[in-house]
Formats: sequence, C-alpha cells, structure tokens
Amino acid sequence: MCGIVGYIGVKEKKEILLDGLQELEYRGYDSAGIAIIENSQLKHFKAVGKLENLREKTKNYSSSGFGVSIGHTRWATHGKPTELNAHPHLGEFSFVVHNGIIENYQELKEELESDGINFLSQTDTETIVHLFEKYYNKSKEPFISFTNTINRLQGAYALLLITEAEPDVIFFAKNGSPMLIGFNKDEIYFASSDTPIIGKATEVYYLEDGEYGYAKNGEVTLFNKNGEKGFVKKALTTNKAMAQKDGFRFFMEKEIYEQSQVINDTMIGRVLDKEIDFEELNSDFFNGISNIKICACGTSYHSALAGSYLLERVAKIPCQVEIASEFRYKEPLLQKNTLFITISQSGETADTLEALKMAKRAGLRSLSVCNVDNSSIVRESDRAILTRAGIEKGVASTKAFATQTMVLWLLTLYIAQIKKTISKEELDSELKAIRKTPKALIVTDKLHDKIHRLSKRYLHGHGFFFIGRDLFFPLALEGALKLKEISYLHAEGYPAGEMKHGPIALADSELFTIALMPKSLHYEKIKSNVEELSARDATILAISPEPFELSDDFIQTHYKSHPMLEFFEMMVITQLLALEISIRLGNDVDMPRNLAKSVTVE
Ligand code: M6R
Repeated sequence: MCGIVGYIGVKEKKEILLDGLQELEYRGYDSAGIAIIENSQLKHFKAVGKLENLREKTKNYSSSGFGVSIGHTRWATHGKPTELNAHPHLGEFSFVVHNGIIENYQELKEELESDGINFLSQTDTETIVHLFEKYYNKSKEPFISFTNTINRLQGAYALLLITEAEPDVIFFAKNGSPMLIGFNKDEIYFASSDTPIIGKATEVYYLEDGEYGYAKNGEVTLFNKNGEKGFVKKALTTNKAMAQKDGFRFFMEKEIYEQSQVINDTMIGRVLDKEIDFEELNSDFFNGISNIKICACGTSYHSALAGSYLLERVAKIPCQVEIASEFRYKEPLLQKNTLFITISQSGETADTLEALKMAKRAGLRSLSVCNVDNSSIVRESDRAILTRAGIEKGVASTKAFATQTMVLWLLTLYIAQIKKTISKEELDSELKAIRKTPKALIVTDKLHDKIHRLSKRYLHGHGFFFIGRDLFFPLALEGALKLKEISYLHAEGYPAGEMKHGPIALADSELFTIALMPKSLHYEKIKSNVEELSARDATILAISPEPFELSDDFIQTHYKSHPMLEFFEMMVITQLLALEISIRLGNDVDMPRNLAKSVTVE
C-alpha cells in the first residue's frame, strides 16, 4: 500500500511531487521521499513519518527548468520505517520507487551481493536499482537494461526509475500494482491513482499488468510481452472526491473490496513455504509464558475473541479476552507468566492504551497488533505486529478487522510451532487455507447485487439478532456492530446456543435473525438453534454453504473446507449487508452519527 508519483516537464517539480504524495498519503505514511534530475544533477530527499516531515526537509529546495522526478510514500512491508528503507532507492547513478513486493528479491540480492554490491536498506526494492545498473554497466543501453531488469522480477510491482545515464527519461513498469500515466501537452505524470494528477493532467492512460516503457520528450513509448503497442488515452475526471474513493460510493465500500488485496500484505514475509514467521518476534519472547490476555475495544475486541478460540484450540495456550474499558477498573489480578496483547486499528484508543500501561506496571510482557506504526500503543508495547491494512477511512472498521484476525491466526500457528502443538500435516493444511484467504475475500458483482436486492427487506422490524457458534460468535458480534453503527437499527450478536436462555422470547416475524451457519464447525448444532427460531416465526436470513429450507432468505457461501475460510467469506457478507442497508436508509456510511474514527478519550 505505497503511493507513487512521477513528473517530467518544466514546472517546479518538488511541489508537484509533494502535493501528489499528499493525495496518496492514505496508502501509507511511515516515510516518504523524492528524487529529481535537473540539468543532469541528481537530488534526493527522504524523511521518516508523515509527509510534513519531508516538506520541512525540502523547504529550502526548489527546482527550475526541465527535469524528471519521482516520489514515494511508504507503508512498510520489508524492513522497518527508517530513512534508509524509504524510497527512492539509490544505486550509483539511478533511483527507483516501487509499490508491491518483489518475491524473488532474496535470490536477486544474493546474486548482486556476490558481485560485490552493498545494500543500504532491508527492502526488496533496492534490488531493482542495482540490477538495472549491473545491466547498464555491461550494455550502456538504458532501456535494454531496464527491460532486462523487469524480466528478472517476480511478484507485484508498479515502479519508476530515473538515471543519470539518460537524464531526460522516466522508465516505468506495472504488474499487479496500480499505476497510470497522465498527460498535459508536453508534460507527463505518473501516479498510483487519479487523485494526484486531477487538475494537472487532462488525459490519462491506466497501465495494464505486464506493460512497461519510457517517457521522453512529452511522449510515452509503451511495450508489453508482444513488443511495442499503441494505447488510447481517456479524458481525466475532474471530480477529486470520487477519484479518492476509486469510483466507490463510500470509503467503507472501497475498503470492503480492498480486503482481498490488503490481506496479502498482512501475509507477506510471514506465510512461508512450510511455516509461519514474524520478523517482529522470536521464540525467546515466549519463554516463561503460559497464558495470554488480550485487551481491546469494539471491532478489535471481536477480532481478539475470534483469536482466543484459535489460540486455545491450536496453540493450546489459555487465553482470556477483556474489553479494555472494563479491564481498567476491575482490579485485575495479573501474573507474570501472562503475555498481554492489545489489539487496535488506530493504536491510539485511550482505554486500550491505559490497559496496556497497567499491564506494564504489573511487569507483564506486551505485544500489540496494530495498523499504525509509531502509534502510542505500538510505542508502549515490547513488541508490535503491524496489520498492514493501509489507512482505513470509514469509521466502521472492515479491513482492519480482517487483517487483525489474520494476524491472530498467524500468531496462533507461530506459537503452536514453538510449543509443538501442531503436527507438520496440520500446519501444511493451515498454510493451504491461509493462502486461499485472499480469494475468499473477493466481492463478486453477483454477491454484491444479491445483497443489494435483499437489503430492501431489512429496513424495519424491531431488531436484528446475528447468531453464530464458536468462532462465528465473535463474527456475529461484529456483524451486529457493523449494522448498528451505520444503519442505527438495533442489532445484537449472540451465541446461537444461548438464544433459548432468554432472547428467543423476542422471536416473531419482525425479529430478523442473521444466522451464520458454517459447514465446517458445529453445523448440526447451529441448525437446530435456527430451527428453534424459525418455529417461533422469526424472519431468518441464513448464510451457509448448505441450502437451509427453513430460511426466508438465503445467501450461499462457497468455502466449507476450513472454518477460517468460511469466517472470512461470511464476514464480507455481513459487511456488505450493513453497507447496503445503511445506503438505503440514506445514512452517511463513512461518518455515522455520534462516532469518531479514533477514540482517544475514555
Ligand atoms: O482503533 P481501535 O481498533 O482501537 O478502535 C477500537 C474501536 O473504537 C473501533 O473498533 C470501533 O468499534 C469501530 N468503529 C468499529 O467499526
């Protein structure tokens, strides 16, 4: 989730790059950098943290006359957010910016190191610039060297490269990560999305995977695997607000769709061929730990609850979950053999932060699962695992929940490996399921359309019950929270087996039950719970891979081999249902009444 901007022309380049990066800051903001070649002179600046730090650092610099320039805002995947790891990455005479992951970078790095090249950063990106220079030093042909370079890359990338070897050119390539080219007379722009170039360029070309080429003298020469190709520019929209949402109606909608992509980022470098690894952890960190306590609020609390089922079941470690605002005042008895985990999207939630401080005062080891590096909770924790969801703008959390839950699943397996509570065969099958998760998170038009049509029947009634068992109980809680946050309808999440202990008294045709009925976990049990509700005439929307004849509405899911795949597939459905109901009710989906994205007060 990094952002890229590039520009060739005579205008002041620093401002174009910084303004463009500002528009992309939502894609990542742990560091940023720019590089400019003007009058054959290379200049570059980098700064850690928000873009304003880079602005401050470059305040006395300005460019004039014709030149080429590239910029980048980073969301760390390989290597910590430091200046050395910030882009642009430098070779001897060239710079590169890159969004994506070079999967074979280790192999390339070893090859380059054996040629005597010194790497300055821990990133995968730096291999690109050294590889380019290696080829250039042999051939003295910049474009051939660039082509040879990208032919060696495996993985996802959108990248720009500038070099003193050809100082009036920007080389570009795209495969799996977004990039477009903007045009305005003799000026050429590059960006990861429309917003940085709206108001600057008048026409645009959206690069397709496998396309690469160079921009020079106001013209772009484009290639794909079949050789040079023509392309058709489109008029560029002038509506910035719409462009920021990539054409979606709301940020929440965009974020639901993004989940399939960002979960890959969560997994990268952690899901290896035969095991789970976290560069943030080592086995010593778990020495003497025989218990886990997780503290969080809201959606993060629901993710924690789901994680606790996994931790106890697979890693065989006792795990309690507490709502942070309750934990703070219950005078908890804390023991040093407990690992204290906090989960937070923002890393600034006051209750969670205070709970963490209490645990630290009691001498507990702490680990945070968080989306924002350098946030208070990350800084306060002994160790932190970043969820890498990218900036979440919708107040109703979606991709943060998905990535938190994925981290907890990976953490469970990591601990299970250390404690040897999982066999090789079981681990292999977990890894297989993990790799299928991005697919389980894809929103198809068919699914979205079905939920859109269904939603009109769920705009009234005296309440919603989301019910599920086991792992699907936290998901039921989360489904209900999503719905109430943005629709303002009353909704509760309940363990399905608990309905008969009271809540079933509410059952009638105006009580809407959203039943999460996974096939791979206690299907027969939940089925009888839903039958009991149906017998009392409750209106039932069943979500399951198995057709359920007693439901009033039914959404069929596809995965049934692994509970977590069923979990993620059903999660998307509950999110879309909340979204569509809220839109039909005319609410502001992204900024629901009375709520804030980051709750920094008690
Ligand atoms: O930033 P955090 O994850 O610590 O925030 C916790 C809750 O405030 C948050 O999850 C809230 O419940 C969301 N609005 C849920 O959509």
